[in-house]
Amino acid sequence: MCGIVGYIGEKKAKPILINGLLRLEYRGYDSAGIATIENNEIKNIKNKGRVSELNNISEINSLNGTVGIGHTRWATHGKPSSLNSHPHMDNSNNFAVVHNGIIENYSDLKEFLKSHKYKFLSETDTEVIPNLIHFNYKNSNETGENKFLKAVIDTCKMLKGSYAIEVLSAYHPDNMIVVRKDSPLVIGKGENECYISSDIPAILSFAKDFYLLNDMEFAYISKNNVKFYNDKAIEINKEIKNITWDAGSAEKDGYPDFMLKEINEQPKAIRETIGSRISLDSKTNIDDFNFNKKYLQSITKIFIVACGTAMHAGLTGKNIIENLCEIPVEVEVASEFRYKNPIITQNSLCIFITQSGETADTIAALKLAKTKGAKTIAISNVIGSSITREADYTIYTHAGPEIAVASTKAYTSQIVLLAIISIYFAEILGKNPKKIEDLKNNILKLPSHIETILKDTTKIKDFAKKIFKEKDVFFIGRNVDYPVAMEGSLKLKEISYIHSEAYPSGELKHGPIALIENNVTVVSILTNRLLLEKSISNIQEVVTRGAKTFIVTNQELNHEFDEVIKIPKTNALISPVLSVIPLQLLAYYISKEKGLDVDKPRNLAKSVTVE
Ligand code: F6R
Repeated sequence: MCGIVGYIGEKKAKPILINGLLRLEYRGYDSAGIATIENNEIKNIKNKGRVSELNNISEINSLNGTVGIGHTRWATHGKPSSLNSHPHMDNSNNFAVVHNGIIENYSDLKEFLKSHKYKFLSETDTEVIPNLIHFNYKNSNETGENKFLKAVIDTCKMLKGSYAIEVLSAYHPDNMIVVRKDSPLVIGKGENECYISSDIPAILSFAKDFYLLNDMEFAYISKNNVKFYNDKAIEINKEIKNITWDAGSAEKDGYPDFMLKEINEQPKAIRETIGSRISLDSKTNIDDFNFNKKYLQSITKIFIVACGTAMHAGLTGKNIIENLCEIPVEVEVASEFRYKNPIITQNSLCIFITQSGETADTIAALKLAKTKGAKTIAISNVIGSSITREADYTIYTHAGPEIAVASTKAYTSQIVLLAIISIYFAEILGKNPKKIEDLKNNILKLPSHIETILKDTTKIKDFAKKIFKEKDVFFIGRNVDYPVAMEGSLKLKEISYIHSEAYPSGELKHGPIALIENNVTVVSILTNRLLLEKSISNIQEVVTRGAKTFIVTNQELNHEFDEVIKIPKTNALISPVLSVIPLQLLAYYISKEKGLDVDKPRNLAKSVTVE
């Protein structure tokens, strides 16, 4: 969840580290710090609060080193405070470490180190790492580079849990060692310099060529060379990967926030995700997929596993797959799936959806499915992310970097990709050609339909002004509209801190309607012509009890409601891609009215790399 960044080269490290941390802040933002090496000494400045506050500390300008590490924190062990901030140093001040992840056995390691007279300043799990490195370094018979490398390797072998770490040593002022296990880390290679980061967008303006570390691979970095080692200290080769995302796509581009930019980028994200995968006059083509009819006929169940918004995309995917392929689909929250001993057989196909590709629970769920013999497909937005290295098949959404913590363009791209996968399977199975034709036609029109919705958002903004002080908002929908209600409700609560809940419209009477009173807002999604009258009756039931109504619909309504947002008609299975847009905007404008930080809501982080 934390963000880590590093630089080693010929330029002053401090501005590069601050720049990288500002871009990584969406991963965590309760405290920040940087350390650089100068004259064989580590200088370390850290502070509670945002990166901008760190940058305002006057001493920070005295950091002149060209080798440095930085960290922006999302607290796990120990409250946000200067002492608990990273980098953490060992007792002798010769090693500095930044860490993303959780060291599960830190208490035992702390006791071990205390028995060797080490003292601890912070409440963190991380502080054991620099001290263990010091302990292993001091007790090593190795010399030179090997001494540093072996001390880090030996330390990592003592750690249980997940980590991406960067290590500086005053004894090796021109080097840095980085390693990862179940937490992301990439190394960007420039001319006589290297950039290290938790993810690619933060350093995209500095580097285009990247090494993607695998678990327990150690990189020994100097400004013009990176050597890779396995955990037996044997040198290994790694390929460099050229990343074609343009740096501008990780900038705000004139928008006040990333979230608004990303909402507006949805037509482009969907166009890119469709790419050449579907066309009206040929079969659907997905690179690297080689499924055949016999295999697909043997599938008795498909599992879709994900967290949060990605799981909501999965719920819509279930409707599409069941409708086109006629195979039953179960959608599971990854953190539940991994601990419930799911009934998976070789006849199960498991699809894992994760924008970041780094969500710990989703990755663990995939590993579990593999041990049970199922084929696994990962849907991710981040090239080379951890999950893509575990899955049998990976298929990418091409939404571009998603920086705002609240997911928008990744969600709609995931639904489109699930629709494409469904069509691909149904074509091989020879099922529902008429439905496929209609769905393809409508998928291709989605980008321009979204452009239509985005053209005028005044009504949504005005409604946000009316309700931004409210305490509770309800979202309702039936059938394909229910997962969208869930997504709208999640968007609202995460960026506006307004309590909200989503229900299937028909379920209201079974309890939740007791909460409806004068002036409570109920947001309804109405895109299903066949269920229109029933849904209207449900809305009337809350209107009678004094509720304000905000309706998103593609139907003609003969009733008066407080606000009605019309969206274009499309194939019902993919209507969530359109109906979610007004809900994203409603959450966005409410958050802005409340003066909140839309891109970095409290307590959240973009990439949830701890379980
Ligand atoms: C909500 C949101 C989260 C993520 C969830 C999974 O707006 O962004 O609910 O969807 O944390 O993240 P990924 O898709 O990276 O696995």
